[in-house]
Amino acid sequence: MNTILILFFCALVSSTSHAGNLQEFCVADLKDSDSPSGYHCKPPNTVTAADFKHTFGPGIPAPTKSTLYPATVVQVPALNGLGISAGRVEIEKGGSLPLHTHAANEILIMHQGEMTVGLLTPTRAYVNKLKPGDLTVFPDGLQHYLVNSGNEKAVAFATYSSPNPRIDFLYQILFANNVSANTIAQTTFLDEPQVRKLQARFNGGS
Ligand SMILES: *[C@@H]1O[C@H](CO)[C@@H](O)[C@H](O)[C@H]1NC(C)=O
Repeated sequence: MNTILILFFCALVSSTSHAGNLQEFCVADLKDSDSPSGYHCKPPNTVTAADFKHTFGPGIPAPTKSTLYPATVVQVPALNGLGISAGRVEIEKGGSLPLHTHAANEILIMHQGEMTVGLLTPTRAYVNKLKPGDLTVFPDGLQHYLVNSGNEKAVAFATYSSPNPRIDFLYQILFANNVSANTIAQTTFLDEPQVRKLQARFNGGS
């Protein structure tokens, strides 16, 4: 009996030591393109501490007085293959972050100011007012929005269940690609003149 146990532990130890020969991480080689299984790994001897660190910025402006500071695998190559990422969102007084979805689940953690956030499903809106210290959850694929409902700049941090969660704004889907105004009007119940106006604003239409 003891011999069998000892053999079992020997096998376990040798299999874990084999696993130890594999890389502990796969820092993205951003020269290649992303794929469903992530980026290729940088050669381990080229990985540096800087691959694991990020300072939020530079910001990417969004239309309605908001700025995104993504910390995805593109900004933080060490996130490759880890299934997580983060971001910071700042919304000026009176602004909002328009309706969008991610290819990931999200947790949003309020840091400064106040946001009123809405999670939309086909039958209901789930709306919450968030103050510093509050968090909220946006499940994968559901439309949601953030509105600055306070009297100062609002700042929140987000985490995502993907190293590359994307942000797909509804206004871009509808008005910023090259589908025709006629087709959008026909397939969304919107009036065509309104669609044309918004396509002109967001450089869409064909
Ligand atoms: C949109 O643009 C692409 C690339 O130029 C083109 O192949 C496609 O046919 C266009 N679609 C429409 C609906 O105009």
